[in-house]
Amino acid sequence: MAYFDEAELYSGFAAEMWAAYDEKGWDHAYYKAVILANGGPALDIGCGTGRLLRSYLQAGMDVDGVDISADMLAHCKRLAAEQDLRAPTLYHQPMQALDIPRRYTTIYIPCGSLACVMKRDEVRETLCRFHRHLEPDGELVFNLFIEEEQTAGKTFPSEWVGWSKADLPDGRKLQVDRRVMKADRIDQAVTEHRRYRIYDGEALVHEEIRTGGYRWYTHNEALWMLEATGFRVEKVNGDYKDEPFSEKHTGTMVIHARRV
Ligand SMILES: C[S@@+](CC[C@H](N)C(=O)[O-])C[C@H]1O[C@@H](n2cnc3c(N)ncnc32)[C@H](O)[C@@H]1O
Repeated sequence: MAYFDEAELYSGFAAEMWAAYDEKGWDHAYYKAVILANGGPALDIGCGTGRLLRSYLQAGMDVDGVDISADMLAHCKRLAAEQDLRAPTLYHQPMQALDIPRRYTTIYIPCGSLACVMKRDEVRETLCRFHRHLEPDGELVFNLFIEEEQTAGKTFPSEWVGWSKADLPDGRKLQVDRRVMKADRIDQAVTEHRRYRIYDGEALVHEEIRTGGYRWYTHNEALWMLEATGFRVEKVNGDYKDEPFSEKHTGTMVIHARRV
């Protein structure tokens, strides 16, 4: 079954939106501490415009990036140059086909991006490739958002919900809204629309809607996937806090696993 095209979903105005979005608050210190504790080089999967990667470079850390979207990577390069950072080493690849000539002590996947890979055989392949790109005992750390309760009992399509506003370099404004079209509780998959509206002053001058989605996982499924692909799960924390994932955490689980 075809789900959606991740590269298309994250190109054009989507990349403009992420380039303007530099919020680091919730996960920046968390992943930084993991990378520093492991020492050695790290790989940012789905690095996008480099929200985390660029600030880690700025801190003198050795971090490379991978992304499926050429537009995202172009913004990442441009922003790094504007910040006078060294040119980041970026790979334009889908994580399902990760193939780069370096091994890492940390591979991290922020923003729940593993959930962009929808097909089960591709997720398995992705995890096997992460395994191959880690040093022995290297750490894979990533978050998965908790969707099950958010979608239970709701009817879809939902209303449009404002997601982001950005000032574009040409002076126009970009407004992005999302709505959930479907939450398939058997397939554990959300389908959503993302609407990009461009305003010139007060006038709406362009609108486009893209279809995307993501899968959700339960805690035990995540552990199973990792154990089946050669990882040892070290801990699962909740909501980017240094405490075990439990029912009080409603946002995200953060999974730490090591290459066996
Ligand atoms: C939600 S954005 C997060 C961007 C960045 N990690 C951040 O935290 O600001 C998801 C990113 O994952 C990338 N992505 C989605 N599917 C991917 C895939 N299969 N392989 C590699 N990158 C992918 C997108 O292009 C996008 O840059």
